Amino acid sequence: MRIGFAFTGAGHLLKESVQVAEKLAEDHEVTIFLSGAAEEVLKMYGLYDRVVSLTGGKYRELATDSNQKFSFPITGRLSLGKYDLLIVSPATANTVSKIVYGIADTLVTNAVAQAGKGAVLTYMVPVDIHSGPIDTVLPSKMEVSKCQNCDECIAAITCPEGAIIPHDEIDLTKCVGCGLCRNSCQYGAINEGKIITIYMRDIDIENTRKLSSIDDIQIFENPKDILDKI
Ligand SMILES: Cc1cc2nc3c(=O)[nH]c(=O)nc-3n(C[C@H](O)[C@H](O)[C@H](O)COP(=O)(O)O)c2cc1C
Repeated sequence: MRIGFAFTGAGHLLKESVQVAEKLAEDHEVTIFLSGAAEEVLKMYGLYDRVVSLTGGKYRELATDSNQKFSFPITGRLSLGKYDLLIVSPATANTVSKIVYGIADTLVTNAVAQAGKGAVLTYMVPVDIHSGPIDTVLPSKMEVSKCQNCDECIAAITCPEGAIIPHDEIDLTKCVGCGLCRNSCQYGAINEGKIITIYMRDIDIENTRKLSSIDDIQIFENPKDILDKI
């Protein structure tokens, strides 16, 4: 099969989505689509390089908001029916709401719109699916309470991106999730990514419900369910 696999900027179910993309790329031609936020968030969780390594060659390209500019020419392939399937996993509340209201001004929302025009089925994994609390994992964080405020912060010196602000925080706009800071700080002041509980907003749950009623879009609770379906 020829599959478009789109990531958006959600941390929730991101690692699981990367695992599914990796599995699919073993047997299928997979083009990767990244929203601008997906590019950033994949880096924060140290997953960007894994996704990029899946690409190379015709129909195995890496398409991003920045390399497609405003008109997203690559999504024309979807309206021409050149793909068998488009997958969006994980799908942020932002992307889901745009799709529900017919907005197509990002690479991923545009890909979904063009897939609809080309009668290409879209499988989506919206992160906001059930009301109430969910547990989700954060990117690495500095725990100032464990920081010894060393004269020379070894984590800051080790970080190749200059993302560590000593005795303060990690600048996530610079972090690429390489983990070198974590391994270098002997006081364990940089954690691996804590699990936190967040609460789904009614408006996002309502948008996911509307999404599920759109023709040619099928929603799944977990990226792994897509593998079973395929
Ligand atoms: C570390 C991190 C994790 C995030 N996780 C989520 C998430 O799980 N769900 C969500 O809807 N937005 C999440 N966001 C916010 C989105 O990235 C943001 O709304 C962005 O504008 C979405 O753009 P996109 O829909 O084009 O990818 C996260 C942001 C950061 C920095």
